[in-house]
Amino acid sequence: MAKFEPTGDAFLRATRYANMGPSSEELGEPFPQYLAASDPNLPRVALPDPTLFTPPDNNFYQLALNRRTHRRYDTEAFMSLAELGYLLLLTQGLREAPQPEKVTRRYVPSAGSRHPFETYLAVQRVSDLEPGIYHYLPEPHALEVFRPGNQSLKEAHAATTNQRQVLTSAVTFFWAAEVYRTSWRYGTRAYRYIDIDAGHVCQNLYLAAESIGYGVCAIAAFKDEQANAVLDLDGQERFTAYIASVGKKVQPA
Ligand SMILES: Cc1cc2nc3c(=O)[nH]c(=O)nc-3n(C[C@H](O)[C@H](O)[C@H](O)COP(=O)(O)O)c2cc1C
Repeated sequence: MAKFEPTGDAFLRATRYANMGPSSEELGEPFPQYLAASDPNLPRVALPDPTLFTPPDNNFYQLALNRRTHRRYDTEAFMSLAELGYLLLLTQGLREAPQPEKVTRRYVPSAGSRHPFETYLAVQRVSDLEPGIYHYLPEPHALEVFRPGNQSLKEAHAATTNQRQVLTSAVTFFWAAEVYRTSWRYGTRAYRYIDIDAGHVCQNLYLAAESIGYGVCAIAAFKDEQANAVLDLDGQERFTAYIASVGKKVQPA
């Protein structure tokens, strides 16, 4: 039996530079938007000024040593809006004000700085937020109330096959990829870069959460169609790339 998967092998071959045609950028296609437009019909929640929140534990070596996956959370504990803003800032926040016709700069690396992700949150226990699904706006560091209510949460949880750590999380992050932000420059190879980029984002979530006493579980075992339906993604131009649950740690993990 071959020690590789034909589909995976075909993907690697198709995404070699030598086997790809010209990218949209090379064909002179216009620059894509690097921030999703906010929806004026959705209510907004401002996040606290992130410069006013710093984690108590800044010992990076200890944080990195302590990082591990946590699947048991304190189901009484509410995350503060400032803590949530801190996690959002370090995962997808902007490090520079966006300029028209320019890529964004953020606190995580991204191939060509294309930053293909939009962040959605399934919120259960965050102070000052009603349960429901929210969309993060890096500019102006705010949340849109995307789908309020417990029914949308149930659907979001079901998309993860109701993994227990999602059901008990204070908040679960969903990262949706907008393919063209990356494929405009890199063509089919974008599908490699998007998944690599997602890993960087989630690693920052692990470390940022660790620094304020929260635990994270990365989640790639989810039902694509269900997750895309909850976030209103078509599954082609926009798809759910990665998920992570977050909650106040209880020991043992
Ligand atoms: C790409 C990826 C996907 C993962 N998917 C899941 C998942 O769906 N469910 C889960 O419980 N853990 C998931 N995990 C967490 C791993 O099981 C965990 O990282 C691994 O057991 C190592 O443990 P550690 O993170 O504590 O070092 C995932 C981790 C990664 C990096």
